[in-house]
Amino acid sequence: MTTLTINSKRFQEDFETLARIGDTGDGGVHRPTFSEAHLAARAWFRERAEADGLQVQVDGAGNHSAILRCSPPGAPALLLGSHLDSVSHGGRFDGALGVLAALEVLRVIQEANLTLRFDLEAIDFTDEEGSLLGLLGSSAVAGIISQAELDNPRGGRQLLLDGLARAGLQEADLLNAKRDPAQMAGYLELHIEQGPRLEQDRAQIGIVSGIVGLASYLLTFSGRADHAGTTAMKDRRDAAQGACAFTLSARRLVMEKFPECVVNTGALQLLPGAFNIVPGIALLSLEFRAPEQDRLDELEQAILELARQEAESFDLQIHFEPKGKHLPTPMNPLMQEALRKSAKKLGLKSMEMASGAGHDAQALAGLCPVGMIFVPSVAGASHSPRELTRWRNCVNGANTLLQTVLVLGKVK
Ligand code: GLV
Ligand code: MN
Ligand code: MN
Repeated sequence: MTTLTINSKRFQEDFETLARIGDTGDGGVHRPTFSEAHLAARAWFRERAEADGLQVQVDGAGNHSAILRCSPPGAPALLLGSHLDSVSHGGRFDGALGVLAALEVLRVIQEANLTLRFDLEAIDFTDEEGSLLGLLGSSAVAGIISQAELDNPRGGRQLLLDGLARAGLQEADLLNAKRDPAQMAGYLELHIEQGPRLEQDRAQIGIVSGIVGLASYLLTFSGRADHAGTTAMKDRRDAAQGACAFTLSARRLVMEKFPECVVNTGALQLLPGAFNIVPGIALLSLEFRAPEQDRLDELEQAILELARQEAESFDLQIHFEPKGKHLPTPMNPLMQEALRKSAKKLGLKSMEMASGAGHDAQALAGLCPVGMIFVPSVAGASHSPRELTRWRNCVNGANTLLQTVLVLGKVK
């Protein structure tokens, strides 16, 4: 049982086929949630799983699952997976690797005709990346989505409604996709690290200890639109200047007072938006992350206060619209231990590490034991077409996932 390994060639062929769906021609993919490419990737996943003789299931949140019944009736399921959506013009590995590794693990166990203590489910969660809401499918499974969040999602309400319609989903079903914890043996995810630490430490496997918390806000700086040629500099109430000054002072604040945290102002829209009009409105997408809950709270207070001060100093009004929050989340210690042992058994050098990126395990942690494996990202690049993980590392990660399933599922 312990000598089973994944089929690297089959796994790689699937990876390359999937990477062609939404291919941007520069090594990356563009598969935002419910885009044509994303729906095509999901259709491919369904077909692939059916061709492998697995049972396919789509829940009310659009999560796609391939199921292998490999336990006595009534046993819970161990979920393995990640996501097939990508950020805008993202990389080929983020999410896709974990879904395909999960599928490969199911196939290997099916071929070996093993009986485990649980059924296996390879799952592709809906909208992990947050082009709509973020951790949408996993939060639905965990039963932690509220109508208030659906009314005010990160990507805007209309985008969510249009996307659901394109995918043939009903909003009400998102609120009813919660799973029974008694039917969940746990959740394991293989993912690329998306940072440089494994490479720097020459480790092959990261055992994730916890995932950072994050909060998002849409900030509106409001001043006054004016003629850009005739309004004296001192008389302007220029929203762009307030938003840009805030961007720079937020960077300073975090570097000086919150060195373990990060801040990002990832989108800025100026209105009316012309060469010759002083911008009256600046819409700024703000996101910040912290590894501990109390630090996230302190950072939130400090950063919003800073935005108020910068707005005032440019004679602007400011409005804050919360756009979601995910709490810092530790991974289950028993899952971490099983992952560590499995890597060791395979002769792989592992290290414990925190995740600076968000993941579905964060939403699921309240529902069942969760664990995550990281594999090295070349130069730490991610959310970019430069994203790359050497194939041997992808295989190491998938084998660690398989080994952990065997360890946890062994029938005594
Ligand atoms: C997802 O990758 C995130 O951390 O934003
Ligand atoms: Mn991801
Ligand atoms: Mn991502």
